[in-house]
Amino acid sequence: MRAGVAVRAPKAHSATSAVSTATTVGSVRLANPVCTASGTAGRSLELDPYMDLASLGAFVTKSLSAVPWPGNPAPRLVPSGEGMLNSVGLQGPGVQAWLERDLPGLCERGITTVVSIWGRTVEEFAMAATMLGDAPSSVVAVEANVSCPNLEDRRKMFAHSPSATAEVVEACLGAKRPVWAKLSPNVSDIAEIAAAARGAGAEAVVLVNTLLAMAIDVTRRRPHLGGVGGGLSGRPLHAVAVRAVWDVWESAPGEPIIGVGGVWDANSALELILAGASAIQVGTASFLDPAAAVKVLEAMVSFCEGEGVGSVAELVGEAHR
Ligand SMILES: Cc1cc2nc3c(=O)[nH]c(=O)nc-3n(C[C@H](O)[C@H](O)[C@H](O)COP(=O)(O)O)c2cc1C
Repeated sequence: MRAGVAVRAPKAHSATSAVSTATTVGSVRLANPVCTASGTAGRSLELDPYMDLASLGAFVTKSLSAVPWPGNPAPRLVPSGEGMLNSVGLQGPGVQAWLERDLPGLCERGITTVVSIWGRTVEEFAMAATMLGDAPSSVVAVEANVSCPNLEDRRKMFAHSPSATAEVVEACLGAKRPVWAKLSPNVSDIAEIAAAARGAGAEAVVLVNTLLAMAIDVTRRRPHLGGVGGGLSGRPLHAVAVRAVWDVWESAPGEPIIGVGGVWDANSALELILAGASAIQVGTASFLDPAAAVKVLEAMVSFCEGEGVGSVAELVGEAHR
């Protein structure tokens, strides 16, 4: 164990519980619906000393690009009400370095992994995806973070356009495994973008990335964040995420959705599941408690036991019925 860190938490889901936690996202079967959210849990084993990453449904990496990327200037995080603004700017070592340095540790620990990738052009997405083509089967899916600026379209996000979203998804099929498209809530019709992603071959959509936002430091009379604008995450985003999942399910009932946004307890996780998500991701809550994801899973199981729910999967989309 690394010095100065907490003892690893026990496995999240008690083997004696009668509640079945297994879920499926398209062709991907997960032991349970709770995953980490990209960019909030590192690229590898950073949170493993605090919780058993192998006991989660999946560990989702920070978004990686085909080449190393320096990210935005500091400061990169600032509190915002009960949430947080970030402008990390997708800093990362690139896919090749991740394959060499980080993936072996994840494989050794038996961690179900989803690799999030990004690019500034469709070509860069294709390069990142192709580099993952020979990754082991424990990399169960590639999450295409289309909520990043498209250099070829005046820095508009790919996720703002159905056609650009579809082009990225097609480019990511070179990863030779299921593609999940991570969409932006900053659109007028998210169901249209989700349909474009699916039409291009995405097995699932991940709803949602952060909301465009910013904060101004009134003493300095300057934007708080080094990158000026940022993304809002955490509790204030939760209701937006529930609505996005609800709307996308209504437009295509039963099509796979992963819900993310302001999950911090059983109730917030179950809201997304009842709205139509087969799995959920925990992000900003991990900054307050690095074991948040496992605790959400434990709390969901307790809720189901108390309510006599035999299987978490039976709750998916239940609020529409
Ligand atoms: C510090 C930080 C970094 C993030 N980096 C990424 C990223 O690299 N790729 C991505 O798709 N989403 C990224 N996100 C968005 C989260 O994955 C998630 O969609 C969003 O924060 C909403 O979930 P939450 O409210 O539980 O945090 C980041 C969020 C935060 C707070």
